Amino acid sequence: MQRQHARNFAFFDAPVGLIFTIDRRLTQSSWVDYGMFLQNLMLAARERGLDTCPQMAWAMLPKLLTELLDIPPHQMVVCGMALGHADREAPENGWLPEREPVESFAQYRGFAPRQEACGVY
Ligand SMILES: Cc1cc2nc3c(=O)[nH]c(=O)nc-3n(C[C@H](O)[C@H](O)[C@H](O)COP(=O)(O)O)c2cc1C
Repeated sequence: MQRQHARNFAFFDAPVGLIFTIDRRLTQSSWVDYGMFLQNLMLAARERGLDTCPQMAWAMLPKLLTELLDIPPHQMVVCGMALGHADREAPENGWLPEREPVESFAQYRGFAPRQEACGVY
């Protein structure tokens, strides 16, 4: 597990490694926007036949990244992301965890959900 975790810091051998920062003055709503931005980036990559791995692991090394990449003080490291082509043969990429049913994390108030809207995604 530790060996696999350490591979974060080589971007899992991806050809492109991205480091994301956010202006420290921005607040909660901008963090929500930022999450959507990251998701859109990952979807856009898939659309173009590329794979990504969002990496919170990089957020553990803000000092190192700030020095290495000359990140200005008003910017805060959010996360990293590996961008490239996933190795489909690697066992870690073949592991597909089961999805939680929607009912386990959503509450329906005031209307009965349609059965087909509650299926497994
Ligand atoms: C916010 C966020 C941070 C993540 N950080 C890491 C990370 O540091 N290292 C890593 O190997 N995977 C990281 N992942 C990837 C997850 O381990 C997982 O592989 C990925 O979210 C795919 O999950 P899924 O099976 O739900 O699609 C992260 C995912 C998310 C959403």
